Amino acid sequence: MSINHDLLHLGRPEGPVRPVNTPIEMASTYLFDSLADYEAARAARFEPGTLNYGRYGTQSTFALEAMMAKLEGGHGCVAVSSGLTAITMAIMPFVSSGCHILIANSVYGPTRGFCSDVLSRMAVTAEYFDPMIGADIASLLRPETSAIVLETPGSGTFEVPDLRAIAAVARKAGVVTIVDNTWATPTYLRPLELGLDISVHSGTKYLSGHSDVMIGLITANEACFDRIRRSTLAFGERASPTEIFLTLRGLRTLGVRMERHAASGIKVANWLANQKRVRSVLHPALPDCPGHDIWKRDFDGAAGVFSFIMDPVTKPALADFIDKLELFGIGLSWGGFESLILPVDVSAVRTAPRWSQDGQIIRLSIGLDDPDALITDLAAGFDRLDAFA
Ligand SMILES: Cc1ncc(COP(=O)(O)O)c(C=O)c1O
Repeated sequence: MSINHDLLHLGRPEGPVRPVNTPIEMASTYLFDSLADYEAARAARFEPGTLNYGRYGTQSTFALEAMMAKLEGGHGCVAVSSGLTAITMAIMPFVSSGCHILIANSVYGPTRGFCSDVLSRMAVTAEYFDPMIGADIASLLRPETSAIVLETPGSGTFEVPDLRAIAAVARKAGVVTIVDNTWATPTYLRPLELGLDISVHSGTKYLSGHSDVMIGLITANEACFDRIRRSTLAFGERASPTEIFLTLRGLRTLGVRMERHAASGIKVANWLANQKRVRSVLHPALPDCPGHDIWKRDFDGAAGVFSFIMDPVTKPALADFIDKLELFGIGLSWGGFESLILPVDVSAVRTAPRWSQDGQIIRLSIGLDDPDALITDLAAGFDRLDAFA
């Protein structure tokens, strides 16, 4: 069956007469017919699907989690309150005092804050590495290395790491691998099939798709799932009923939305590559992007978020370029139906290696707008830059 079939049919109510969509289930307390039933549910409370107390999951939580587990080819999934929570809750069960974790230089920025503000106080050492390291990651492993954290492609800079090579080294050494798969979504990449142990998502982006939800999802293989579920529950983490409902609903249209984001993104990226002010376009489907060959080997498509590097401009000229765009909003996040633009500065953040390219990085999230209209909007922006005094 195709992934589109799964997107339409998984996680939906069953029964002779049923609503099309899994309803919002608001529940803290579940009532049982007998003390014996209550005690059986308590005993099985860590098993997905057991209704026991709202924090452990409702019918709609379990519907979304089972759906994501299937889409990602995992043993199980845990829904949490944001994408950042998904990252931190995926790391937590695999660290303890004195251990060492390896983090790709290109991960979502706030992951670094979690390492410096929280993990460091637990005496966990976080070491950053070049995401293009491939199998040479072996040289960074220490006896106390417990986890490797990756993102594909990299946040803002879109280089594509060789997940297969890194996972193979890690598996041999007994080190857990975690990858942020938010960009590709399961429609375009299923990291567990490449040998990764855990795939995390900010469902805030494409999965829900309408810029009105915050949710995170952690999908893991059998070896890691139970530890993640228990640890996440120990923190009291959960996703809200409304966000779960909206994510399930968003998933129904993920396939067609991704097709449109992909086609429009590549069209705008190719146009940008020919503009005189543009030095390079950081889009995994374009041959110049670091890791393009790996993208071709492992992915089934490209999302609509990418960056380009343009000649340096003054702050007022940059503001004039961006502020007067008609179709691109200025705002955080991405993966919604609307198009977004933001300047990106990784020079202060990236440590291993330091970011060495000059020029202004601009990140675009290509929404469901007509791509020709987006190109016209950007072209007018470049004309403004030419005219800017
Ligand atoms: C790649 C990636 N992962 C995780 C996150 C964090 O997700 P959330 O905002 O849902 O916490 C973001 C947010 O921008 C992101 O871009």
